[in-house]
Amino acid sequence: GGERPEPLSGKDEGSFAYLTIRDRLPVILTKVIDLVHRQASALSESNQQEKIEDSKGVIAKLSKLRYEMKTNKPLTQMEDDRPDVQIWNDTIEKGKSLVDQNKITSFTGAWLIVECYMYRKIYEAFALSKQHKCFDPFQDQKEESFKGLQNSAISLAQFLKHSIHNSGGDGEEKRNVKNVFDTLLQFCLWGNRCDLSISSGEITHEEGAGQTAHLQRMKENIIVDNSQDVWNTIQSSENPRIDFVLDNSGFELFTDLCFAEFLLHANLAKEIHLHTKQIPWFVSDASNKDVMWMAQQMKGSSNKCLSELGELWIQRFQDRTFILQSHSFWTQAQDFSEMKNVAPDLYEELSNAKIVFFKGDLNYRKLVGDRKWNHTIPFTLALWGFLPAPLCSLRTLKADVQVGLSPGQDDKLQAINKEWMTSGSYAVIQYAHHLD
Ligand code: F6P
Ligand code: MG
Repeated sequence: GGERPEPLSGKDEGSFAYLTIRDRLPVILTKVIDLVHRQASALSESNQQEKIEDSKGVIAKLSKLRYEMKTNKPLTQMEDDRPDVQIWNDTIEKGKSLVDQNKITSFTGAWLIVECYMYRKIYEAFALSKQHKCFDPFQDQKEESFKGLQNSAISLAQFLKHSIHNSGGDGEEKRNVKNVFDTLLQFCLWGNRCDLSISSGEITHEEGAGQTAHLQRMKENIIVDNSQDVWNTIQSSENPRIDFVLDNSGFELFTDLCFAEFLLHANLAKEIHLHTKQIPWFVSDASNKDVMWMAQQMKGSSNKCLSELGELWIQRFQDRTFILQSHSFWTQAQDFSEMKNVAPDLYEELSNAKIVFFKGDLNYRKLVGDRKWNHTIPFTLALWGFLPAPLCSLRTLKADVQVGLSPGQDDKLQAINKEWMTSGSYAVIQYAHHLD
């Protein structure tokens, strides 16, 4: 029963949504425009007139989009031929302004719709061209994010290798499994930090001082920690399958796969399903291509530990202990409470998992409908009926929405750090399951 609070929106001047739409989104668009521009200029030496004209068409579309979003014009229909066009156009048609019930515009609609719309429109600008059809304007950034953290990746790979060797049997070793589980879960969690500040020096392959001390310090910033529930669920069920709804490519993806690798090794799962995006999304989100790129990159590394792990993961994609899955629902604007109606096949698919991990901030926003919830309302209530299987959100806070806190916890956080909801320095491990 009851109603949900209204969605976050750019209509609330000064809010994080408002500032994102006013300042951050135009910068992202400008960067994409500059990239296409640079690539076209590089061509002008040789005589590739056709490709240059094609680029100009893309730039014109993206510039128009930037202008329309900046000046609060109504969102416009999608015109390419992806199968999701109809559902997107329904969303745009039905998404009324939160201010005056007129057509939805960038500053009057739900932030979630507006922000997803921008990425879908960037895709459209390329899809409607002749020569840039499947172009991913964020590819370089994604690749840099992994390359730039090579050393951290090597340290984590060494930790993983070491842990796997030392967590086989019972007694002492069994206790060790739980410790390694907690450690890798936390790496997987903090991998979602935007600044990715878990640096090489802090991770060591020893169970010793450096690494534990650092994660221990970070632990204070985990404001909801349901990791014991997660462990209980994973341990108690015979179900062989665990799902990850992935977020960012690069280092975060690497931490996800390290955690997944451990789950397989410790016999806590027999297959890992990884859900990826079908189109370039929120700059760094992982596509199938990004995942395979990373594994290949690792395999070619001069570091033995990393290259062995890369080889193992490529093997896992072949023998299907790692399974890539992609659904167009992940790049629509609907929150997850609508999945049952909009994408029942996906809901059904997720219900086969022992547990589903939802990585990152955007997935959290979609889990709780991106709404102005009171911070103390229960997570399960905010899910609004979405519970295909037991689930766990691993998220660093980068948007001003949060549920499931204890009374007064928000005030305390506010006193310590005014930007606790958006700085990425706080995190949650939040769990929900069916009550039976
Ligand atoms: O600008 C902030 C933002 O785009 C949020 O809107 C979004 O939730 C987040 O960044 C993306 O973060 P993540 O990759 O963790 O989903
Ligand atoms: Mg992301």
